[in-house]
Amino acid sequence: MVPPLRAASVFLLFGCAEASFGDELFENALVYANRSLHGNFVRQMVNGTLSEVAFNYYLHQDNLYLSKYARAFGVMGAKADRTDELAWLLNKSVGFLHEHGRDANNALDGKTFDDEASATTVAYTSFLLEAAWSEEMLLAYSAVLPCQRLYDWLFSTIARTEHISDENPYKKFIMQYADPLVHRDTLKMESFLERYASSTREELRQRAQAHYNTAMKYEAQFFDQALELCKSNPCAAERMLRADAPRPARLVEATGTVKPLGQELNLGLGVAFLVSVPFLFSALLQVRSRWGRSSSERLLGGF
Ligand SMILES: *[C@@H]1O[C@H](CO)[C@@H](O)[C@H](O)[C@H]1NC(C)=O
Ligand SMILES: *[C@@H]1O[C@H](CO)[C@@H](O)[C@H](O)[C@H]1NC(C)=O
Ligand SMILES: *[C@@H]1O[C@H](CO)[C@@H](O)[C@H](O)[C@H]1NC(C)=O
Repeated sequence: MVPPLRAASVFLLFGCAEASFGDELFENALVYANRSLHGNFVRQMVNGTLSEVAFNYYLHQDNLYLSKYARAFGVMGAKADRTDELAWLLNKSVGFLHEHGRDANNALDGKTFDDEASATTVAYTSFLLEAAWSEEMLLAYSAVLPCQRLYDWLFSTIARTEHISDENPYKKFIMQYADPLVHRDTLKMESFLERYASSTREELRQRAQAHYNTAMKYEAQFFDQALELCKSNPCAAERMLRADAPRPARLVEATGTVKPLGQELNLGLGVAFLVSVPFLFSALLQVRSRWGRSSSERLLGGF
């Protein structure tokens, strides 16, 4: 008699024989995805101790990232092979642009990005945009997918395996990304990737894996950068904020977050904005990150 466990693994063996290229890319990049799951930013988010200053900085950089991620999807839409893919990519592009509310980003132009994006945000978005503009679709998808699949995997894994206290101010954020709708988008993107992968040569598949790994490393660095901010000035800014100012709610209702217009590495100004000019954003449904090749290689030198 075959023990149940054995039967299950035999089933899995056959069930996974036709793993998609999206799965293959992710499995091979798991060691990098793991950096985000076990990094301090996400650990502190899970136990609720993450500093509000760090979280708001992260949200601000994320919004800048999304402004470029949306453009990458626009370019990929124009290059799409089939019409269903074109429609889906362009719809997602507009979705990313409005992720923080329909009119929240109307003023976010190129100059805003240049003034406020961190080195990591610039490098990651340059990398994505170059892949979208000048490389084959398989490579473009491999550059933009880690953002989608990481958040899907990261937060659904956390929701499934860890206890998140009801008092945790980040619970809502975590649960939004653990939503099955996020996974549905991942599968959709991976199904488009699959169309290109099925007819491609081995050399290109290897380059796709390299792109995927690069983006996955940037994701971990994207979280880390917010904690770096607190290292250089041990979130004294946050104590100041707590002592002197009415604090903006971090996560407002189901659909809104208050987010400061922070200035990178300029805590004084960042806090002034934090206190006086909070921006209202609707809840993040999908967060993304971004970069450029030469700068990305430099910044990722330590990986
Ligand atoms: C992920 O990181 C944890 C903690 O550092 C480690 O125990 C685990 O082996 C890692 N898994 C992979 C696939 O790298
Ligand atoms: C929360 O997580 C961080 C990062 O792992 C850890 O350093 C800290 O001690 C934890 N705090 C509590 C109260 O569990
Ligand atoms: C665009 O995306 C939104 C949100 O997912 C969805 O409700 C809508 O039906 C989509 N529109 C098209 C034309 O696909």
